[in-house]
Amino acid sequence: MQKVCAVVLAAGDGTRMKSSHPKVLGEVLFRPMVLWVAEALEKAGVEHCIAVLGKGHEEVRAILPEHYTHVIQADRKGTGHAVLMAKEYIRNGGFEDVAVLYGDAPFVLSEDIGRAYKQHKTQHNAVTVFSARLRNPMGYGRIVRGANGVKAIVEQKDADVDTLEIEEVNAGVYWFEAAFLLEFLEGMTSSNAQGEYYLTDCVEAAVSSGRRVDAYAANPDTVLGANDRKTLSYLNQVAQKRIVERLLEEGVDIPFPDQVVVGAQVQIGPDTRLLPGTILMGETMVGADCEIGPHTTIRNSSVGDGSTITSSQLEDSVVGAKATIGPMARLRPGCHLGDNVKIGNFVELKNSTIGDGTSVSHLTYVGDTDTGSWCNFGCGVVTVNYNGNQKNRTTIGDGAFIGCNTNLIAPVTLGDRVYCAAGTTVTDDVPTDALVIGRARQTIKENWNKDGKRFERGNKS
Ligand code: UD1
Ligand code: CA
Repeated sequence: MQKVCAVVLAAGDGTRMKSSHPKVLGEVLFRPMVLWVAEALEKAGVEHCIAVLGKGHEEVRAILPEHYTHVIQADRKGTGHAVLMAKEYIRNGGFEDVAVLYGDAPFVLSEDIGRAYKQHKTQHNAVTVFSARLRNPMGYGRIVRGANGVKAIVEQKDADVDTLEIEEVNAGVYWFEAAFLLEFLEGMTSSNAQGEYYLTDCVEAAVSSGRRVDAYAANPDTVLGANDRKTLSYLNQVAQKRIVERLLEEGVDIPFPDQVVVGAQVQIGPDTRLLPGTILMGETMVGADCEIGPHTTIRNSSVGDGSTITSSQLEDSVVGAKATIGPMARLRPGCHLGDNVKIGNFVELKNSTIGDGTSVSHLTYVGDTDTGSWCNFGCGVVTVNYNGNQKNRTTIGDGAFIGCNTNLIAPVTLGDRVYCAAGTTVTDDVPTDALVIGRARQTIKENWNKDGKRFERGNKS
């Protein structure tokens, strides 16, 4: 979109949230609300954006996309006053049209931003306001229609009995002709029930100067915003319900839909089953025919077709097809697991590559390691990757057998088919096809506990 910019109002503090953080940082499906809005703008192709920030602005700036400009609104005197803060930005940018959105209303759709813009340009509107029809319009600004378009937006507190009957409400997203918006901001007053500078007064101002205003029928969820924890939690429910319904339509099996949490960017293939306690977040992709859960958290990871992940945690990792993970496995960032890999209980993996068909079945730590295909790790193997100063890598070839309780002191390389005897501490490289054994020899002292005094309980019988 050319010559347009967006103003995102995000100066609300967290008072009613009982939070010390700005309101727009309230999270819906683990993402701050303001980032939902930013994503819709980005998808709609709006490149120039300014956020109006208030108390705690550093925190909001830290998460906003880099290309965002910001301006501080020190005193909150209403939505019109908030947009006024962006006046210089709008004027100096030479924009033709300006979108205004509220940073605490996350469900605006990018499609609606695009379609409303088209309507705005086709109709040559001074203002195009997103509207929705609600059975219970309580609290929202009402859209008052005239013979040709919209005549006014009347806030709940300023409305008379007849106006309160109107079910079409202001959804809180607008397209403005920039020249008109700047003119309106100059002359704005605060003579209303709340003594605030209402952005919504722009409608009457436009109409009285002979300009056209119309409403764009937006997705009704656009109106939903969060003012307190209750509404924030409701937004989570709405978002979750939408996603679960889409997944069910796409063939994902979710027998207990209220007991899973799936983020907006997660993709899941058909016939995959999500069991209770499953939380899928970030940029996560799960293939077809998988079983995920119960009690599994996967963040920013991908899982291939036909894999099973039980009671485990995965982060920033890639798992191949037909893998079995868990229960109680933890994949920390940077793991790449091939197909048919088996990771069992109490195994921790970090920043490691595990080749196809390799098994790490129990109580093992594998960090900063590249392991080939079809290896077997016994119980209690430790890759000793940290010497107190730096991390070192371990490299293991294909078909290696690492016996129980082996320590691999990195940096170290084991060739293909190396066989490590149980209890070995490997300090030096081991060539292909070799056996390595390094442990103290066993000593036996005969009759050492013959009278049972070494261990009283052994003496009772
Ligand atoms: C606003 C609309 C109302 C609409 C509703 C939709 C006005 C006057 N009213 O009402 O018609 O139906 O949204 O949700 O616009 N903000 C600032 N600085 C301020 C005031 C507000 O940044 O000085 C931000 C808030 O943090 C919030 C947004 O603007 O993100 C909306 O403000 P709010 O006071 O919640 O407006 P509503 O009363 O909900
Ligand atoms: Ca609001």
